[in-house]
Amino acid sequence: MEPILFVNACVRGEQSRTLRLARHFLKTYAALHPDEEIYERDLCARRLEPQYPEVLAERDRLWEAGKLSDPLFDEAHRFAEAHKIVVAAPFWDLNYPAILKIYLERISVCDITFGYDDAGRMKGLCQAGGLLLITTRGGDFSLPGSSWMEMGARHLEALCAMYGIGRFHLLAAEGLDDINLDAEALLHAAMERADALACQF
Ligand SMILES: Cc1cc2nc3c(=O)[nH]c(=O)nc-3n(C[C@H](O)[C@H](O)[C@H](O)COP(=O)(O)O)c2cc1C
Repeated sequence: MEPILFVNACVRGEQSRTLRLARHFLKTYAALHPDEEIYERDLCARRLEPQYPEVLAERDRLWEAGKLSDPLFDEAHRFAEAHKIVVAAPFWDLNYPAILKIYLERISVCDITFGYDDAGRMKGLCQAGGLLLITTRGGDFSLPGSSWMEMGARHLEALCAMYGIGRFHLLAAEGLDDINLDAEALLHAAMERADALACQF
């Protein structure tokens, strides 16, 4: 069975519009690919700690001892072995919530998700052919005047290059907090784009 990893960084839980959009995408995707199993990682439920000095020291100690099968690296292995990855995260402060950064720091482990070849060049070690970021934003950061301020999707796309994940996709519902716009209509339009994407992803 092909593992699909769903990284859920929707801090508002079932209140989250991003999670609503992600669940819609996953429902359509699952109907189209009944042979693929989806593993959800709810980052808020997992309460991952930042890499405080003692956490980092323990990670370095295990890594230097070659103990890459230690449970501390389980998340990194799961990410590296996933066939496809879906990340759902709302747009916060021009980026994504800190809980997702903590997760990304945890899974970015040399010799698991990325490494170096004999010439010292970085190479990605992840199996996934594609990663999809699903997000919703209060404003519209897809426009020429505002897109330069967007840091979350850009960071994840760059990380995909580092991890060796060939395709980065973005599904964003923009402008949901704009009082001049109909948030529900925007969300439904994004759900239609999600249905189209589910056929290609
Ligand atoms: C802590 C926080 C920070 C936010 N920062 C931004 C921001 O920088 N730009 C923006 O357009 N919207 C921002 N928003 C609005 C959210 O992106 C928007 O409401 C989104 O739909 C929330 O997703 P959710 O319903 O999945 O939680 C922020 C919301 C919160 C709670």
